[in-house]
Amino acid sequence: MKKILFVLLLCSIEVVQAQSRVNLTPRPKQMVEGQGQFELPSRLVVAYGSLPDSLSREAARFVSDLNAATGLQASALSSTEGAIRMQLVSDCSPEGYRLAVTNEGVQVEASTSAGFFYAFQSLKKMLPANVMARKYDARRKYALPVVTIADEPRFRYRGFMLDVSRHFFAVDQLKRMIDIMAAYKMNYFHWHLTDDQGWRPEIKKYPRLTTVGATAPNCRITDMKRGTYWTNQPYGPYFYTREEMREVVEYCAQRHITVIPEVDMPGHFVAALAAYPEFGCDPSHPVTVWTTGGVSREVLNVANPRAMQFAKDVLAELCDIFPGPYFHIGGDECPTNAWEANADCQRLLKEEGMKSFRELQSRFTEEMSDFLATRGKRTLLWNESITAQGSDLARVKKNNPLIFCWYPCQKAALMASENGFQNIVSDIHSDTGSYYINRKQSTDPGEPDGAGKGDDTVERCYNYVPVPESVPAHLQPFYTGVQATFWCEWVGTNDYLEYLALPRLMAVAEAGWTPQEAKNFEDFRRRMGLDREMLDLGGYSYGKHIWK
Ligand code: ACM
Repeated sequence: MKKILFVLLLCSIEVVQAQSRVNLTPRPKQMVEGQGQFELPSRLVVAYGSLPDSLSREAARFVSDLNAATGLQASALSSTEGAIRMQLVSDCSPEGYRLAVTNEGVQVEASTSAGFFYAFQSLKKMLPANVMARKYDARRKYALPVVTIADEPRFRYRGFMLDVSRHFFAVDQLKRMIDIMAAYKMNYFHWHLTDDQGWRPEIKKYPRLTTVGATAPNCRITDMKRGTYWTNQPYGPYFYTREEMREVVEYCAQRHITVIPEVDMPGHFVAALAAYPEFGCDPSHPVTVWTTGGVSREVLNVANPRAMQFAKDVLAELCDIFPGPYFHIGGDECPTNAWEANADCQRLLKEEGMKSFRELQSRFTEEMSDFLATRGKRTLLWNESITAQGSDLARVKKNNPLIFCWYPCQKAALMASENGFQNIVSDIHSDTGSYYINRKQSTDPGEPDGAGKGDDTVERCYNYVPVPESVPAHLQPFYTGVQATFWCEWVGTNDYLEYLALPRLMAVAEAGWTPQEAKNFEDFRRRMGLDREMLDLGGYSYGKHIWK
């Protein structure tokens, strides 16, 4: 077995034949298909030898999923004898794995639990579609094609961001999206929890956030059948309890997905200020939760120590709920007008000798990042935190934040890299494509209302090159990953969310995993065509444009 893998690696064969029997997305780094198949016996044994619980757990989960979908009576055993054998190796990268399926069985190799998880995901995906869809069908024959795979991701960050502020999505719907992320080996769920249109995370110390702040006075819905209309009713209060947030964290953890909470500050903060106007720049003019998109001039008063403490209190409560190493504090689209008109801000600017009101944002970012660092968290920021004119890069840089580049994405990513910031590519829309997968994906007359002009097609999303060849080699290591980003100003129903996200989410997943030179849109289209069975079984709504 080892020998087969060794030869495979030496030859660096990258083969996915046109008529491949193996349907894997993201496309594996290296794959050689053989003849024949391995039919799973009804009492299949997954042998995990003496692997510790942290690794053997992956076998137990695989077996549980398999049995639930197939009616087989597979078991995971601490044995060296079994048709599927797990082997801990030291020469796989942290998320990498190797699989060798022969007529007799399967050898699974990895160096971490994530690696074993991805190996088992690949095995599930190579079985009939009901296995990944988790739909019971005891009548099918469950067999794996003979194949040898040596796989690992291109990027260590492969994210999906969902905005739950503009419209709210219940935990069950989040889980449906997380299932898709896991099926396509994505590993970060960036949860955009707050914005001008609604505050969603429960914060014990500030209960008005999830009453006043979580209720909009009206709501615009785009119904995929009826079209767009206003409900003329209050929308909310919609929020997640602490238990629900923990449930999402746990659901993700089982799928090797880290949850990144985002509290967007100091701009995009109207919902919070509607609940606690005293933390705004002009408390005598209270604001209400917004009902449409746009950029508000009402922002947190970053020169008010009580407002700063409010922000830290919120972060502190959420740090206890989200165990991951990252915390996103937004930083995008923050006009300085309210600071310019505010006496506290004017004074602070003068006292600290700042040249621009934008430096107030850099100062805020530094203070929040310092605070997050005391909780063991690394700060994540949208690119304006460094690209907005007048930003104090040294202050922002102090805690080594990760920069999410969206507009102008490639310029921001290059600038971030040149200044030593790691970055994530999530282009809103450019000549070469878009990773904002909420945007309209076609110009068909029947397309529901949405963001964009309809030119953000699946193909352009797929063909977007996250690290252009023009990026100098010494800067390329700063490009840390890719993210599919989904904003919900127009999207408030589960079916519309899925319809826009799928299959562009898979296109970004493949950009995150598969080497650039191994990507091919026609092949992706073919594989997605095969995946329709899984999506249909799962009752997913999805865009069918690429098969027309
Ligand atoms: C953004 O799209 N405002 C990050």
